Amino acid sequence: MIPLPLPGDDDAAESMARMLRVDHAGEYGAQRIYAGQLAVLKNDAAVGEIRTMAAQEEAHLAEFNRLLVARRVRPSALLPFWHVAGFALGAGTALLGSKAAMACTVAVESVIAEHYANQINRLPQSEAALGATLTKFRAEEMEHHDTGLAHGAEATPAYPLLTAAIRRGCKAAIWLAEGV
Ligand SMILES: [Fe+2]
Ligand SMILES: [Fe+2]
Repeated sequence: MIPLPLPGDDDAAESMARMLRVDHAGEYGAQRIYAGQLAVLKNDAAVGEIRTMAAQEEAHLAEFNRLLVARRVRPSALLPFWHVAGFALGAGTALLGSKAAMACTVAVESVIAEHYANQINRLPQSEAALGATLTKFRAEEMEHHDTGLAHGAEATPAYPLLTAAIRRGCKAAIWLAEGV
């Protein structure tokens, strides 16, 4: 989601800063969601799969940590909130069962994959390396999405309601983290 440009907000450096800030916040939140799931689903059959996804989120976050420093972009001021909200979303859905946790993954990753696709389309030609990074991460988010479906996400009660609510929350979080 791209908020309407504000006066003085339209230079390339500022739009790149917003882009990296929201991606960093998103990967930070993703890592916290999987941490919340793992805290609850200690002995579930899906734990191995969730650990694999969590390890990829760690790598995504590490890359955005590096990019924020390299490009002198401040992180989202809401990181303490994403810390708690991400964990609560992961743990809260996992408490409903591993299929609900997988439904959460499907919902979150579908929004993130769309978000990365939008960014990749908007990237200037001079940002080929960043484009390759985003393309790789997007492919991994799509794998997470498909892993969620393969583990019975759609069998969770109230799947359409649950995923619609989580998708709305993620879109609101993206909108917030671009600016704040
Ligand atoms: Fe990620
Ligand atoms: Fe992911």
